[in-house]
Amino acid sequence: MTKKKIVVANWKMNPKTSLEARDLFKKVKLRAKVFSEIEVVICPPALYLPLFSKMTQKNFSLGVQNVFSEQSGSFTGEIGPGMAADAGASFVILGHSERRAMGETDQLVAKKVSASLSSGLLVVLCVGEKERDSSARFYEFLKNQIRTSLGAVKASDLKKIIIAYEPVWAIGKSFKDAMKPAELYEMTIFIKKVFADMFTADVAHSVRILYGGSVNFENAPQIIKEGGVQGLLVGRESLDAESFSKLLKAVHESR
Ligand code: PGA
Repeated sequence: MTKKKIVVANWKMNPKTSLEARDLFKKVKLRAKVFSEIEVVICPPALYLPLFSKMTQKNFSLGVQNVFSEQSGSFTGEIGPGMAADAGASFVILGHSERRAMGETDQLVAKKVSASLSSGLLVVLCVGEKERDSSARFYEFLKNQIRTSLGAVKASDLKKIIIAYEPVWAIGKSFKDAMKPAELYEMTIFIKKVFADMFTADVAHSVRILYGGSVNFENAPQIIKEGGVQGLLVGRESLDAESFSKLLKAVHESR
């Protein structure tokens, strides 16, 4: 298993024009070249994928932010995993909390995971509790999310899955409000335990876990060093080439 650090950039519904998207992509690619030991995955809006499909390189690839659970058919407005792969995506983000807030269930996410794997996409599966309750029910919530979303996945396919642990309460907040590394460390241990119960201790040991939620260059080093994660899923800070470049540098230095 590779211990390479992974940084996934989730551009969400940004930027507004393909011109701006091209500009951002080109700048970020130049910076990513400098830190070639980091696996960088850019996830632009799906419409922009073909603009960049010829501009990827080793350690610098494309992902899509969502796909549907079927490959084709009468599903107005949806995109099949095979189509995303054909347009240049190697990765897919599934189950992001912003999609779950629009009604996506763990069951639907599970179908999307299977369909994506069968199209050869690598899955970044987002999980995370909405809030923390004093009786710690969020542990159970997280366990169920993982178990259901990965219910149909064979142990041999787990190397194609990356878990992005994103506590919803820490997304889009001030950078001081990202999860504390010590708390994150507990959660990564918990996630590994869920994997050990579902599969084997070896699988649990090798599962790749990223953290997402208000990450920037200042909090990234500690999160990586002390949080027990192999990388980051980044929203806002991926939309500005300068900030993203500082973030990559911080990840590079946190080895
Ligand atoms: P943020 O978003 O970095 O802006 O908090 C993270 C995410 O939603 O994946």
